[in-house]
Amino acid sequence: MKSYSIAMIPGDGIGSDVTAAAWTVLEAAAKHAGFALTATEFPWSCKFYKDTGRMMPEDGIETLRGFDAILLGAVGWPAEVPDSVSLHGLLLPIRKAFVQYANIRPHRLLPGVTGPLRAEGFDILCIRENTEGEYSGAGGRVHQGTADEVAVETSIFTRAGVERILRFGFEQAQARRGKLASVTKSNAQKYSMVFWDEITRKLAADYPDVTVTSYHVDALAARMIMAPESLDVVVASNLFGDILTDIGAAIQGGLGYAASANINPDRSAPSMFEPVHGSAPDIAHQGIANPIATIWSGAMMLEHLGERAAADRVMQAVEATTVRGMGTIAGKDRTDVITAAVVAALT
Ligand code: NAD
Ligand code: IPM
Ligand code: MN
Repeated sequence: MKSYSIAMIPGDGIGSDVTAAAWTVLEAAAKHAGFALTATEFPWSCKFYKDTGRMMPEDGIETLRGFDAILLGAVGWPAEVPDSVSLHGLLLPIRKAFVQYANIRPHRLLPGVTGPLRAEGFDILCIRENTEGEYSGAGGRVHQGTADEVAVETSIFTRAGVERILRFGFEQAQARRGKLASVTKSNAQKYSMVFWDEITRKLAADYPDVTVTSYHVDALAARMIMAPESLDVVVASNLFGDILTDIGAAIQGGLGYAASANINPDRSAPSMFEPVHGSAPDIAHQGIANPIATIWSGAMMLEHLGERAAADRVMQAVEATTVRGMGTIAGKDRTDVITAAVVAALT
């Protein structure tokens, strides 16, 4: 029997609820499809940091490298550990070390879910650059605490990094409805964003079947709300993609539905699957987190592993659950009730 080894990092807050829920569904789906999934759980989190002084052990990256994929809940517990420490100690190093340069985030309304917009028929795939740009971590502070203090944080855009994410976006557009929105702010940022626009124009020649339009990020943000049905694939830098995908989550009904895959397209290292949302301290430990975003991320993991039929089956079960109103109103159905309904719909 085929078997896949998964590293599970529940993380903080609702991360443990939603990864446990997703795992229940994924195991059931694997059983139906006739393959095995084994989970190795790592307790890396803000609690781990409080206990050990690190978010993950020094050899954490090397430990993860041997797995087929990583399923992550959420990282961050700002009341105990500054986010700038926790995220730079766990989530962000994994994305960079494993060259998970394509962060894929689908935004569409599941049946039965009512979003805040009048629009119903949108289906957007956001492709977010995931390893450089505004998240490069290059910078510093001098004269700290004095009136002369200076803080510098430099975005780094490399030709290789921009080209590969744009090519990924073009290819996704080819496989979908043939439209690519390339997002910058080149009217204000005249080096990096003009560079991105230039590379977009140059690569367009290689994809004559894709209609590419360059948008400024402010206009694209408005378009996602006013005319989301006009968009197909959206490709953006790390920070712009981060912000746009919370808008995407909002228009699809909330963060409880927004899935995400951090993909290493070359498969030279494991990819990581996680919901768009964070640890939700305001609802942690209450058993009311919506697990659908993480279950959907798990379906993306199955697809990446080559188990397309099982991935489709998970999404059909999710849709069979939401279409009857289960998990569609914030706080109405508990995490375990939604999870059990999805598992029941698998059969
Ligand atoms: P958040 O996504 O945790 O929460 C924002 C709002 O959405 C909250 O009101 C929360 O209750 C709600 N929400 C989120 N997920 C939900 C779900 N599954 N079901 C129902 N409601 C849900 O964002 P935040 O409050 O800005 O961040 C909290 C912590 O999580 C911070 O430490 C932050 O840095 C971290 N964070 C981590 C990740 C990640 O690990 N990928 C992503 C975002 C935020
Ligand atoms: C996300 C999150 C992270 C990001 C944070 C927690 C660093 O918001 O995955 O969207 O900005 O990438
Ligand atoms: Mn985000």
